[in-house]
Amino acid sequence: MTTDVVSERAVLAQIKRNRLPRHIAIIMDGNGRWAQKRKLPRIAGHRAGMRAVRQALEGCSQLGVPFLTLYAFSVENWKRPQREISLLMSLLREYLKKERAELKRRDIQLRVIGRVHELPHAVQKDLETALTATRDNSGLTLTLALNYGARTELVDAFRKMAEEGVRNGSVGWDEASISRNLYTEGMPDPDLLIRTSGEMRLSNFLLWQAAYAELWITEVLWPDFTRKDLFRAVSDFQKRERRYGGLG
Ligand code: IPE
Ligand code: IPE
Ligand code: MG
Repeated sequence: MTTDVVSERAVLAQIKRNRLPRHIAIIMDGNGRWAQKRKLPRIAGHRAGMRAVRQALEGCSQLGVPFLTLYAFSVENWKRPQREISLLMSLLREYLKKERAELKRRDIQLRVIGRVHELPHAVQKDLETALTATRDNSGLTLTLALNYGARTELVDAFRKMAEEGVRNGSVGWDEASISRNLYTEGMPDPDLLIRTSGEMRLSNFLLWQAAYAELWITEVLWPDFTRKDLFRAVSDFQKRERRYGGLG
């Protein structure tokens, strides 16, 4: 048994199963830097990042965390070179095809948030297939944020609400109705928001939903992220006192 396995178990043993986050959201960052450190093309970092996706998913399944949301492509990421974007889209298609059966087998329901209709057609088709294949699953919900931006999401929500107002004569403009009109409708807000690669920002991710999320930032680059890192984040989360503006 390697020391790494031992310490993963040690971290796991600290986690209290009755105080788990219901929803973990992750900003998977640092793929490019991981590749750069190895003198590899950036896309090699994105490919290695798929391994970390499996680790995060396994970790959440193992703990029994019901919602995992991964930030995979932002509305701002279109600013990147065309070549990187198309390679990212191909990787995504590869992931969906490869993992579809595995997601189904492990009772994982796939969900997507973002302006999906603006993604390349081939990607949309593969997404649809994967969504349909996992539709009836009732275990963990894995949400991929694709062509996602929190401000765009709010614009889309407000437009929907305005249209509803025109149709029905009125619409409630309270917090609950805004939440209901977001892409994340029906999901609990994230309790724990993880960002890898040490950047201290939200980069337009779940701005509304993360109002009271506990933030956990690690220097680890996304391709190096393991189940143990996830367990460590959850264990730290459980030591925090969430006050929501009160006195605790
Ligand atoms: C995150 O890694 C993946 C995406 C944004 C698609 P990056 O590609 O942002 O990696 P860095 O930040 O350049 O290291
Ligand atoms: C955030 O990472 C988006 C995703 C992880 C998909 P970025 O690398 O795009 O964020 P910035 O540009 O450093 O803020
Ligand atoms: Mg980045």
